[in-house]
Amino acid sequence: MTDSNRLIIFDTTLRDGEQSPGASMTKDEKVRIARQLERLRVDVIEAGFAAASPGDFEAIRAIAAVIKDSVVCSLSRANDRDIARAAEALEKAARKRIHTFIATSPLHMKMKLRMEPEQVLEQAIQAIRCARQYTDDIEFSPEDGSRSEEDFLCRVLEAVIAEGATTINFPDTVGYAVPEVFGATMLRLRERIPNSDKAIWSVHCHNDLGLAVANSLAGVMIGGARQIECTINGLGERAGNTALEEVVMALRTRADYYKFELGIDTTQIVAASKMVSQITGFAVQPNKAVVGANAFAHASGIHQDGMLKARETYEIMRAEDVGWAATKIVLGKLSGRNAFKARLQELGIALESEADVNAAFGRFKELADRKSDIFDEDIMALVSAEDHAHEGEHYRFVSLSQRSETGEMPTAKVVFSMGGVEFSCEGVGDGPVDATVNAIEKEAASGAELVLFSINAISGGTQSQGEVTMRLSRAGRIVNGVGADPDIVVASAKAYIAGLNKLHSTLERVKAQG
Ligand code: KIV
Ligand code: ZN
Repeated sequence: MTDSNRLIIFDTTLRDGEQSPGASMTKDEKVRIARQLERLRVDVIEAGFAAASPGDFEAIRAIAAVIKDSVVCSLSRANDRDIARAAEALEKAARKRIHTFIATSPLHMKMKLRMEPEQVLEQAIQAIRCARQYTDDIEFSPEDGSRSEEDFLCRVLEAVIAEGATTINFPDTVGYAVPEVFGATMLRLRERIPNSDKAIWSVHCHNDLGLAVANSLAGVMIGGARQIECTINGLGERAGNTALEEVVMALRTRADYYKFELGIDTTQIVAASKMVSQITGFAVQPNKAVVGANAFAHASGIHQDGMLKARETYEIMRAEDVGWAATKIVLGKLSGRNAFKARLQELGIALESEADVNAAFGRFKELADRKSDIFDEDIMALVSAEDHAHEGEHYRFVSLSQRSETGEMPTAKVVFSMGGVEFSCEGVGDGPVDATVNAIEKEAASGAELVLFSINAISGGTQSQGEVTMRLSRAGRIVNGVGADPDIVVASAKAYIAGLNKLHSTLERVKAQG
């Protein structure tokens, strides 16, 4: 099976990506990202970890109901309860996969699982037996695989393949591997395991040493893997996972060397990157490969001169091939509902009902009254705001007035509602944003700690909307609130209130690798 030259792209933005502290997403946000992943034509979408929380379960269920082309997958620990929960969440999926895992390294088995190797082996086999009741598409991961003993790995992997696992994923859980060793280990495993050809081999690399993409490519080229697990913008635990945009564009741009086929529509990459960044509040660094704002910018005179003469002098990929287009004005104050709806469709944004379209159109009109040119990015931010509004928010922003002057202490007056009751609160602070947060906290008294505050211009120029991310922490829970507005203080108030709403939702998660 591993001789094929077709590579499977398995996206885990919604599962491993969401495990980044602060990257938690709502159900609606996950469905939007899943739809974009389908437009990107990823082969498999790991939609979450069904047994982790009711929120994860519902999100997988909603994704399974709408995604038709990609396989929808749920992670589960290697126990009957988790697997049954994954199967239940995936019930409506046109094509489904259960991905079950158990740790196999001496360290994880002894310190984390407190299990003997023989018990781990038995549990792995039992997990596949259980998963087979629900689907034929079963993936198995020996967690911390790159630090596991090879003899033991051979026994476990041979047994799970014999039991019916169809994909064997080899994770570098802690980002410890180096390319040549990682690839060679996978090759040895495949050579030593008699039934290894009955499964597709996969790589899942973390980026703690900045080697996730290199390790993944070595797994493919040396080890014979035919599935790569990755995330948009490299989101994921700690330093993240293999970045989809990087690994895919390496394979495409250097197809002369790699010679693999991929199903990915690369023109959807930038839209996916922007969507994930906007929803999670994880900004993309400007010099990030492929999706960073500077990835196709040429500043030095020599480079600009070369580019004008022949683009290939300094560019190895075409910006438009990954979805970068010159930012264009799409709509304005005089645009009607039909034009707005058509633009939503072009952006691949499917709102659930006509009432949702009307609500988004109302927001668009409000924005167009205050801002003459509306860009695609403005529409995407506006729809994000709609997503938050869906959840029967406890807190709602109403209005803000604020005053600051050189040498004076800034003041802010914020009107907002809590549980349907409207409050008007005043605050002072070191700056206008501080005064605004202090005003909200006077009444909300949330006990939340602000751990990150960032502002980005959504489009170009000083007329751009500001997009603010506020990361809040309370009792070990970390959430991101995002708000957009032409007035950055208002955007900050909206972001803070969005964060409070997320903290207010009580859904708790079980940690996938705990
Ligand atoms: O990093 C890891 O080991 C994982 C597994 C659950 C595949 O995410
Ligand atoms: Zn992982």
